[in-house]
Amino acid sequence: MIAVINISQLVTLSGPQRPRTGPAMRDLSIIENGVLIVRDEKVSEAGNWDKLAGRIPENAQVVDAGGRIVMPGFVDAHTHPVFGGNRADEFEMRAAGKTYQQIAASGGGINSTVERTRRADEGELMLAGRRYAGWFIRNGTTTIEAKSGYGLTLEDELRLLSVIRRLNDDTDLDYVPTFLGAHAIPLEFEGRTEDYVDLVIHKMIPKVAEERMAEFCDVFCEEGAFTVGQSRRILQAARKAGMKLRVHADQLTKGGGAELAAELRAVTADHLEHTDIEGMSLLRMAGVQPVLLPASVLMLGSKQFPDARSMIDAGLAVVIASDFNPGSSPVPSMPLVLSLASTQMRMTPAESITAATINAAYSINRGDQIGSLEPGKTADFVIHDCSDYRELAYFTGIEHARAVYKSGRQVFQR
Ligand code: NIG
Ligand code: FE
Repeated sequence: MIAVINISQLVTLSGPQRPRTGPAMRDLSIIENGVLIVRDEKVSEAGNWDKLAGRIPENAQVVDAGGRIVMPGFVDAHTHPVFGGNRADEFEMRAAGKTYQQIAASGGGINSTVERTRRADEGELMLAGRRYAGWFIRNGTTTIEAKSGYGLTLEDELRLLSVIRRLNDDTDLDYVPTFLGAHAIPLEFEGRTEDYVDLVIHKMIPKVAEERMAEFCDVFCEEGAFTVGQSRRILQAARKAGMKLRVHADQLTKGGGAELAAELRAVTADHLEHTDIEGMSLLRMAGVQPVLLPASVLMLGSKQFPDARSMIDAGLAVVIASDFNPGSSPVPSMPLVLSLASTQMRMTPAESITAATINAAYSINRGDQIGSLEPGKTADFVIHDCSDYRELAYFTGIEHARAVYKSGRQVFQR
């Protein structure tokens, strides 16, 4: 049993058992001078010192937070964390003036990571995956949604999903697996996209479902990737096979992805840099959560950030995530994502924290377990080295997390 005391702000995010929208996104349910009591891997009590001081069990291990804040671990609801090699070479080419799409069209981009990933054996992928898991944790993230998508053959996609499963077992980070076989058209299918779509639908989805390798299925719906029609067929097949749906939508162009996500009542529509007000209202009516990824906009050198303000005004339960991947977002840091949300998308620090914890937890079907610090929830929490939660988004380019706890066990200390 653990009792964390001397907490300047215990940011609980307690509240109704549903994703937060509108003004509720600004309500973090903060307890000043807080105490957090953890028993059997779960939050047992979260309250004020004056109320709880006399109730700290004798046998509790007391952790003094030193007047710092305590928050739920970040839930990063969109990552691509298993890949071979990296793309520092393309990063350099973009610095010299090439665009992401130009590089992709000339054989680079996602397909160059596919080539490097196919060549890597499981040991190499695990080694790299463990390294990235460490980066997430030291930045205060305790759960990630993790996509396949750099294999693009039946065998390689299964291999990536099994690496994700092993990373979940072997590291202190929790992984929620998503099958993204429709991430790009692999080079050997050039000019035969429909054949690849058939392979995804008739070979990959049944096998992934049969072996229970993924909870979600995602599609990159974009010019140069999969059309709305192809994406629809893939997602419908995945739903039939028992997976829940996510969509990469309107990232580089406005291509109907948001409308498709609404039509299919996907759980999330991700990116949405080019989504208009009509698209937002369709998402709202269909109960789809937007997952906004400002670090990918930053790292692509674009200025086109998604219109988070209009989405919050439209009543959408906004999520923000890192999009960690070797191409558009080599960024595992949720504090940086919070800073971008405030400076580039005019989300207040409180809205950003809601979007990165409780709303994110709901978007990966874990809203009843993580994302807030309430009795009965898993004790995934972080002591950040600041006394006011706004400093997390304000001081930028540093690692704020001082200690990270997963299921009540310390997994990182600075
Ligand atoms: O979310 N847009 C598609 N997928 C990734 C990029 C992946 C890559 O470039 O390797 C994204 O930005
Ligand atoms: Fe992505």
